[in-house]
Order: sequence, then C-alpha cells, then structure tokens
Amino acid sequence: IPQFSEGYRLRPIELADYKRGALDVLKNLTTVGDISREEFSELVKMWQRNPEIYHTYVIMNPLDKVVAIGSIIIEAKLIHHCGKVGHIEDIAVNSSEQGKRLGLSLIRYLLALGRKNGCYKVILDCDPANEGFYLKCGLSRAGYEMEYRF
Ligand code: ACO
Repeated sequence: IPQFSEGYRLRPIELADYKRGALDVLKNLTTVGDISREEFSELVKMWQRNPEIYHTYVIMNPLDKVVAIGSIIIEAKLIHHCGKVGHIEDIAVNSSEQGKRLGLSLIRYLLALGRKNGCYKVILDCDPANEGFYLKCGLSRAGYEMEYRF
C-alpha cells in the first residue's frame, strides 16, 4: 500500500462511502446523476459479490472524506491462452486535492493489482488533456478509442 501524507489512506470502497463523499469525487470526472443510497448499496454489493472482476478503491483524507476514487475491472479472455486484461476506469481526485500525487498513487496501486491478478496488460481510455498524467504513471499511448453512443 502506497505511503501518503499523515492521515490519508487507500482502501476498497465501502457501503458507508455514500455519505463520505464518494459521488462528489466522481463529479470531478463527469455527470453522476441523483443516485440514492439504495442504488449505491446495490451496486457496491454486486461488486463485492464479484471480487475477481471488480476492484474499486478510494483514498480517504484525515477527516474521513473520500478524496480520490478509481477502479480496475479484470477481464478474463480466451486469447493469449486464457489471458487477463485490466481495464482502469473512472479515476477522479477532488479538485482541492489535485497535484498531491494522490492520482499517481492510486494508478500505481491499481496497476499492481492488475499484475497480482495475472493481467498481461492494463489499458484505459482518456482525454488527450490527461495523456501527460498517464505517461507519468508509466503508461504509453496505444491505439485509438472508438465508441457507439445509444
Ligand atoms: N497533464 C500533464 N501532467 C499532469 C496532469 C495533466 N492533466 N495531471 C497531473 N499531471 C502530472 C502532475 O504534475 C504530476 O507530475 P510530477 O510527478 O512531475 O509532479 C504527476 O502527473 C502526478 O500527478 P498527481 O498529483 O498524482 O495528479 P492528481 O492527483 O491531480 O490526479 C487526475 C490527476 C486524476 C487526472 C485529476 O486531475 C482528476 O481527477 N481530474 C479530473 C477527472 C479526470 O480527468 N480523471 C481522469 C479520467 S481518465 C480515466 O478515468 C481512465
């Protein structure tokens, strides 16, 4: 587990993080919507029932508020002799806490989790504005992102 300044700690997401600001942190990334406590709990419980696939982590500050969040989804494939690929998703650090290397620590931890779980690679999609951040996290540019919107 990475070392942070006094009082900050990284741990798996918990049901009680609903009231500790988990959704507010994600608003630094995109639209979150009006998610009820029940909807939040059902989703986090589904992740907890599938621990080989879903790994969502939070960084808590000394006041016990969520200040960063991010996930790695581990996909089991047929190719590369039943290989696994990690997908890093939905990384966000509270605007007041950006620039303190919390994002870097979180990505390093998620990459280590991917390695521990047997992934042969970890991939993610990001805005060109974040390329520099991910280069500093040790990733390199590969391919193009495509999408089909519904
Ligand atoms: N461009 C270039 N370099 C950057 C950027 C950037 N956008 N952001 C940070 N860096 C650099 C920092 O200066 C630092 O460099 P240093 O080690 O030389 O000092 C290094 O990258 C590490 O930065 P951190 O302090 O760890 O970055 P932070 O904690 O602020 O987190 C993040 C970065 C996650 C992009 C944050 O700014 C954020 O939450 N932004 C809004 C939401 C967002 O865009 N999330 C990423 C979506 S992509 C996805 O989810 C897969």
